[in-house]
Amino acid sequence: MQKIIQPAGQLSGSLDLPGDKSISHRYAILASLAEGRSVIRNFATGADCHSTLGCVGALGIPVSVEGATVTIEGRGLDGWTRPGSDLDAGNSGSAMRMLAGPLAAQPFSSCLIGDESLSRRPMDRIIEPLSRMGALIEAREGRFAPLSIEGRSLHAIDYASPVASAQVKTCVLLAGLFCEGDTVVREPMRTRDHTEIALREFGASITIARRVTTLTGRPALTGRELTVPADLSSAAFFLVAASIVPGSHLVLRGIGLNPSRSALLDFLLSAGASIRIVNMEHVNGEPIGDLEVTGGALRGGEISGELAAALIDEIPVLAVLGAVSDQGLAVRDAKELRVKETDRIATVVANLRRMGVSADEAPDGFTVPGRQQFRGATVDSFGDHRIAMAFAVAALRAEGETVIENAEAASVSFPGFYELLESCRS
Ligand code: S3P
Repeated sequence: MQKIIQPAGQLSGSLDLPGDKSISHRYAILASLAEGRSVIRNFATGADCHSTLGCVGALGIPVSVEGATVTIEGRGLDGWTRPGSDLDAGNSGSAMRMLAGPLAAQPFSSCLIGDESLSRRPMDRIIEPLSRMGALIEAREGRFAPLSIEGRSLHAIDYASPVASAQVKTCVLLAGLFCEGDTVVREPMRTRDHTEIALREFGASITIARRVTTLTGRPALTGRELTVPADLSSAAFFLVAASIVPGSHLVLRGIGLNPSRSALLDFLLSAGASIRIVNMEHVNGEPIGDLEVTGGALRGGEISGELAAALIDEIPVLAVLGAVSDQGLAVRDAKELRVKETDRIATVVANLRRMGVSADEAPDGFTVPGRQQFRGATVDSFGDHRIAMAFAVAALRAEGETVIENAEAASVSFPGFYELLESCRS
C-alpha cells in the first residue's frame, strides 16, 4: 500500500494512543501462565501483540478479544498444552524471544516461526542462556528462526547478559519461572523493567538491585485485571510531529512514563522540545501521565552510550527531528539498530537522502546535520513499522507531497496511525 502525505500547517488535538506493545506482550504471556481469569484493557491493537495472543491460544489457553479488551483464562504454570502446529511470531522479536523461555521448559516440543524479517534476526542471544539452563533448541545456522524447541526440565542460572536487551532478560526470567530456586539476570545496562513490574503484579517474588534482577522460581501467579498504558514509543511520532511543525499543540493522554522508557522525554527536552507532563498516576505499578507538546525551535543533540540503548526504538523519528533542528543529531553506540525489523541505520539514512537530507552512516550510528529542508519524495518503509511512521512525520515538514511505499507496515504496532495523524491537521 502507498500512502501520500501532504505537508502540514499545524497539528492540534487531544489523542488516545494504542496500548503499550512491550507491556501487552508481557501481560498476555503472564496471564496465560497464571491461575484464573485476567482481563487486560487497552491491550495493544497492532499485529505484533496479536501474534503473541495467537501463540498463547495455540498453546491451549482460552483467549478472547473484544476491541482492545483481552480476556485470558490462565491455567497456572503447567497449563500450556502441546500446540497442533508451528507457533507463528509474525514480525515480532518480542513474541519469539519471550515465548521461547517458557516453551523451553514445557513437557512437549514446539516450533517458533516468524516472517522473513524476523527469520533474519539473531536468536542466539536467547538460545545461549536457555541452553545453559538445560534447554534443547535447534535453529537455522544455529541462530535464526525457525526455532525447534524440545521442552525439558530446566535449572536456574546466574546469567550475565552480554547484550543490553530487555527481551533477553525477559526470556531468561520467564524460563526461570519454571526452575527451582533463584534465577539471576545481570545486565550490562539497565533496560526496560516492564517484566519485573508485571511479574510482581501477578504475584511473583522478584528483587532488583541496580542491574541485577533475581526471580524466585515456581511462584503461584494469579490472574487479574490490568490496564495497559498508552505506548510512549508510539507517542514519540506525535511528540516529534508536533515539535517540528511550528504552531502545533497536541495532548497525548494516559501515556506510559516508566523511567526505563522515558529517557525519550528527557532527550526531547534537552533537544529544545516543549513538553509538559500533567495528571501523573500509577496503574498496575506503571506510571502514566498526559503529555502536552507544543511546536517550536529545536536544538538537536547527541545519542550515545546508555542513551542509545534507552532510545533504541525512537531513533528513526529522532533522526527526522535532527534534520530540522539547529545542531542536527549524532547517533553512536547504536549498532543494535542493525538487527531490528530492518537495518535501521541503513533504512533511516536511505530515506533521509531520498528526501533531500544529507546524512552520514557509521557502523554503529549516523549523523544528520541540522537546518535541512525535507523535500517531498518517494520513500519506503522497507516493511518496518517505525520507518514508515518516522517518514510520515518527516513528510509533514516537507516541501511537496511524500509517497510512502509499503506504508501498511505501520499496523504492526499502530493500526490507524495515518488516520490519527491526518485527524490532527488544523
Ligand atoms: C523490547 C525491547 C527492545 C525494543 C523492542 C521491545 C521489549 O528490544 O527494541 O521494541 O519489549 O522488551 P531488545 O530487547 O532487543 O533491545
